[in-house]
Amino acid sequence: MTRADTPWRATILTLYPEMFPGPLGLSLSGDALARGDWTLEARNIREHGLGRHRSVDDTPAGGGAGMVLRCDVLAAAIDAAAVGAATGADDPRPRLLMSPRGRPLTQARVRDLAAGPGALIVCGRFEGVDERVIAGRGLEEVSIGDYVLSGGEIAALVVLDACVRLLPGVMGKMESGVEESFEGGLLEYPHYTRPRDWEGRAIPDVLSSGNHAAIARWRRAEAERITAERRPDLRDGSVAGQAGSRSITGPSRS
Ligand code: ADE
Repeated sequence: MTRADTPWRATILTLYPEMFPGPLGLSLSGDALARGDWTLEARNIREHGLGRHRSVDDTPAGGGAGMVLRCDVLAAAIDAAAVGAATGADDPRPRLLMSPRGRPLTQARVRDLAAGPGALIVCGRFEGVDERVIAGRGLEEVSIGDYVLSGGEIAALVVLDACVRLLPGVMGKMESGVEESFEGGLLEYPHYTRPRDWEGRAIPDVLSSGNHAAIARWRRAEAERITAERRPDLRDGSVAGQAGSRSITGPSRS
């Protein structure tokens, strides 16, 4: 099933619209874009810049290094991008602001976003954006991890990729069942394929046994072992939106 009639709509507000669709123009997301399962509009915030130089930033109030994205400029860009009214009040899409200060993105949030009408995503640059526009335009700050990127564009690509792969019809049958097949916030078990012996490393015997119950038990035990080793936080519920939820890992061939 595809959503050709009501595609998932992404609008990006950025100073670098040329960065989109970037890698999302290829592979699964690119095919889905070409099919019309989702749409992508990258709008340049500078179109709402001030004066002859279309200036979008200014020095921080109170002093200090760097520049701050102006609230009036960003609000104008958001209002123009939102459908329906000049205030954007009619646009049902969540408005995200990519920022290392945001709530960490989780698969649970990705699922919610993918199930909705789309997203309007603001990509920050400079030292940050004027705080007033965050409340004034209802922006949800989202981080993709505890490190600092040079801007929100790559983070926005990450959010889009995670959402688009969940849209109906985007992933093949093989991959699409996986989120449901790993209950309990576990990382994925290891995968193997031919050859059976490679450089002295053999595939675990159980996987060639034909005993499906034993294979399922082994996979579950491996998933639990790997999760306990690498991400105990996923099991103990300290990661918001993950505990008791489903696997955050990628597609498998199971
Ligand atoms: N912009 C800069 N760093 C970021 C991060 N870690 N997540 C989201 N947006 C960002």
